Amino acid sequence: MSFPGERRAGILVAPGSSPANLLPDGVHTTKGTLVVTVRLPIVTERFLIRPMQPQDTADLFEVYRDAEGLRHLHREVPTSLESAGAWVRAKMERHERDGLSLWSVVQRRTGVVVGDAGLQYERDDGGDVGLGGRLNRRYWHQGCATEVGAALLAAGFDAGLTRIIAVTRPANQPAMDVCDRLGMAFVQRSDYFGEGKGEWLVYEAFASCWSAPPS
Ligand SMILES: CC(C)(COP(=O)(O)OP(=O)(O)OC[C@H]1O[C@@H](n2cnc3c(N)ncnc32)[C@H](O)[C@@H]1OP(=O)(O)O)[C@@H](O)C(=O)NCCC(=O)NCCS
Repeated sequence: MSFPGERRAGILVAPGSSPANLLPDGVHTTKGTLVVTVRLPIVTERFLIRPMQPQDTADLFEVYRDAEGLRHLHREVPTSLESAGAWVRAKMERHERDGLSLWSVVQRRTGVVVGDAGLQYERDDGGDVGLGGRLNRRYWHQGCATEVGAALLAAGFDAGLTRIIAVTRPANQPAMDVCDRLGMAFVQRSDYFGEGKGEWLVYEAFASCWSAPPS
């Protein structure tokens, strides 16, 4: 369906309309373009999800240096503490710019940053907002990613997103399992990023019919 308006993050606004009257709390406009603002922190039973901070770098580098654990990811992750610092700053800037980004996942009991997770534009041209993240492997196999993912989907839909996707490698069975547990539907297999780097599986969930999985 074509619609004469700007499109960001799955929300449409007609030129001349009054977005402030149309949109739920937490959604703002910038220069006529909509920016979705997910309210942070998000608190789950075991975790707190908040914007990254420079002091998270050491904990996050413990996650990023696990080349074997992160072998299925699309983009290169930092390979030094210095590049991890630059990565954290880039994610902080993205949060300021888009209201969407990868954020730090903090274990509430210990205050340790156990990984990153978030909602962000999958491609540089905007459009699809994707759920993604990675956890320190000490926290795998305990339902942590499912707990965090469910909270992020709920927060994204609360903020006004209508559709959230997840993109994963066909070989990344743990990520596919998380998508299944979150109630995301498999959509297609494609060269999603258009970089000739092989095929990706795309999953999606819609605000109109998604409900959180039982915890
Ligand atoms: C993707 C990733 C976070 C998934 O981690 P995970 O531990 O497999 O997923 P969860 O944290 O949801 O844990 C699920 C496991 O905990 C178990 N579990 C225990 N309690 C649970 C609960 N309350 N709810 C759900 N699962 C629970 C499940 O049975 C499952 O067990 P299994 O691993 O033996 O199959 C992890 O593999 C990772 O960081 N990978 C590297 C980065 C990456 O590939 N990211 C995805 C990019 S698309």
